[in-house]
Amino acid sequence: MISLQSFGRDLNAVVIGGSGGIGSALVAQLLMCPDVKCVTAFSRSGISVDDEMSRAPLRKLECHPIDLMSESSIKDASDGVSEMTIDLIIVATGILHSKDIRPEKSLNALGADSFSAVMQMNALAPMLVAKHFLPRMRKSGKSVFVALSARVGSISDNRLGGWYSYRASKAALNMLLKTLSVESHRTHPQLIVAGLHPGTVDTALSCPFQRNVEPTKLFSPSQSAGYLLDVIDGLDHSNSGGVFAWNGSQIEA
Ligand SMILES: NC(=O)c1ccc[n+]([C@@H]2O[C@H](COP(=O)([O-])OP(=O)(O)OC[C@H]3O[C@@H](n4cnc5c(N)ncnc54)[C@H](OP(=O)(O)O)[C@@H]3O)[C@@H](O)[C@H]2O)c1
Repeated sequence: MISLQSFGRDLNAVVIGGSGGIGSALVAQLLMCPDVKCVTAFSRSGISVDDEMSRAPLRKLECHPIDLMSESSIKDASDGVSEMTIDLIIVATGILHSKDIRPEKSLNALGADSFSAVMQMNALAPMLVAKHFLPRMRKSGKSVFVALSARVGSISDNRLGGWYSYRASKAALNMLLKTLSVESHRTHPQLIVAGLHPGTVDTALSCPFQRNVEPTKLFSPSQSAGYLLDVIDGLDHSNSGGVFAWNGSQIEA
């Protein structure tokens, strides 16, 4: 059973990207956590109730639309929860490939349009979420703003090369989260801001790239969500601005 006891109260949790592989598993596990009062899930395509979700107390769930490529949609989403004091925000959205986008195997594949789209989605959008949702976050006691990053965003860990846009977008996200941790200390002294690497997880995002992943290193979304919520429960203020893997270890920039 997931515990978020370190927050010390019944939580209001927000998941941005509740329709995704990891996002929907996070929503299901937050709903089942006795420390959570309400889960507000935002998504572009709506939340579907899968097996895991169907066992959860759905009365604790609220769902709203959001399109992270539009700042006005992000602002509308935040305006829609203006009555709520939020304890935990998890941004679980992201893009690696789409109909028009492939992660680059070499420099020749780099293109301005796909680079901009990946940067906007993976780096800028989580910060626009922070911009519009931070005023709704609790100002005293533990509160947490995390965004799903990726180990490939670590500059010092880059041994394989490739994936220019995705790597750059996650490195940029990590810097933006660090910068936010510095600024938010003034208005929300106890807020913890962090990036989280979920491991390699069996979702639509990783599906085309799973061939060389050892089966024991490919997590189910539910397994990864459990690990991530454990990491969130263990975070304290000294961790703010950092990036942490699914097992709690810090990832160097
Ligand atoms: N899976 C892995 O192995 C892995 C590894 C390292 C890091 N990560 C990171 O973990 C995060 C989640 O990945 P995942 O594997 O769960 O991917 P996923 O299943 O493909 O989910 C991606 C999510 O992003 C949402 N999204 C995309 N464009 C959007 C937009 N314009 N507005 C609102 N939502 C949008 C999708 O919403 P719709 O479904 O509504 O389109 C979906 O909820 C990403 O940041 C990814 O980089 C994943």
